[in-house]
Amino acid sequence: MGVLFSSAQSEFEIIKDKWMQEVEKIGMKGQFVGGRPVDQFEKNFAAYVGTKHAVGVGNGTDALFLSLKSLGVGPGDEVITVANTFIATVEAIHHTGATPVLVDCTADTYLMDVEQVKQKVTAKTKAIIPVHLYGQCMDIRELTQWARDRGIYIIEDTAQAIGADVEGMKAGSMGDLACFSFYPGKNLGALGDGGCIVTNNTELATQLKKLRNHGGQHLYDHQCPGFNSRLDVIHAIALNEKLHYMNEWTKHRQRCAELYIEQLKGSSAVSLPFYEQIERHVFHVFVIRVQMENRDALKKHLLKKGIITTTHYPKPIHLTGAFSYLPYEEGTFPIAEQCSQEMLSLPMHIALSEADITAVCEAIKEQLHEE
Ligand SMILES: Cc1ncc(COP(=O)(O)O)c(C=O)c1O
Repeated sequence: MGVLFSSAQSEFEIIKDKWMQEVEKIGMKGQFVGGRPVDQFEKNFAAYVGTKHAVGVGNGTDALFLSLKSLGVGPGDEVITVANTFIATVEAIHHTGATPVLVDCTADTYLMDVEQVKQKVTAKTKAIIPVHLYGQCMDIRELTQWARDRGIYIIEDTAQAIGADVEGMKAGSMGDLACFSFYPGKNLGALGDGGCIVTNNTELATQLKKLRNHGGQHLYDHQCPGFNSRLDVIHAIALNEKLHYMNEWTKHRQRCAELYIEQLKGSSAVSLPFYEQIERHVFHVFVIRVQMENRDALKKHLLKKGIITTTHYPKPIHLTGAFSYLPYEEGTFPIAEQCSQEMLSLPMHIALSEADITAVCEAIKEQLHEE
């Protein structure tokens, strides 16, 4: 018996009956785009994050792209983000025509190095995108104020951090806009692609509602050139149902993380995730670091035992083919580069049991000769 990396199917099983009942009602009415379930989800999700507005969109990448567009970001502008992130953060900047400006991550949290951000700000900087990577919420309150004083917007990339918080402020409630992904493997996953933007700014929310729907909130009322990126109703129904379980599922992930830490803390070959308070981290993934020469062998050893792991991410942004046009050679962001060679993401999901965790940890120690 192996250990899965994630388990969207376990979540589906929990919501299946309710979801099917609601989908049947919608199907019988023939109302497949927009409507009550989407409005309800937006209301519930805004309340969950603690913002005034939530605007459902087609996926997390569109959430980032449309957020940048709503702020008027375009050619000639610069947007700062971090080299250790999923490629979507930077793709969204690229597709507005603005220039992505990257910084390294810090060696303990693997999150964006805020001091480097401040040094990279120029007169062209229009926005900063902090990424709450792996499920860990950055405390961006000071950065947000610093940026506001300079007329720079903060867009939080909250794709991986739903439910994480800093002193009661949820990830997504500290910047000007925040972007969530409901990709099925996320902590709050749809049954396909989905995303959402949250904000306290009513003007921006209105603009985003236009941008996602061909430039207007009403049929054939096109006030600006927009896009087609709406949250589908079948996903909104699933998300509304799953939202009831978010706190319980988050606690389970945090408990799993504590068990991993308990069982691996004696290992001199494994670096464990660093976090200040457990509330700040919702463990979208549980990332360990082992020395470069051990990582791939360890991954193979675990796979032989049926334990699925992965790497977030095998290459930092500046070393991907897609962004080789940016002026950053190998060696520019040493921490992100080292992370990409040493990190391993262990199984983490709502169906993970204590026995699974013990099996994973024993297999790790066996391979690293630490039994
Ligand atoms: C950090 C980060 N940003 C953005 C995205 C993009 O979200 P989506 O896959 O829904 O487009 C993801 C999804 O994996 C992500 O992890």
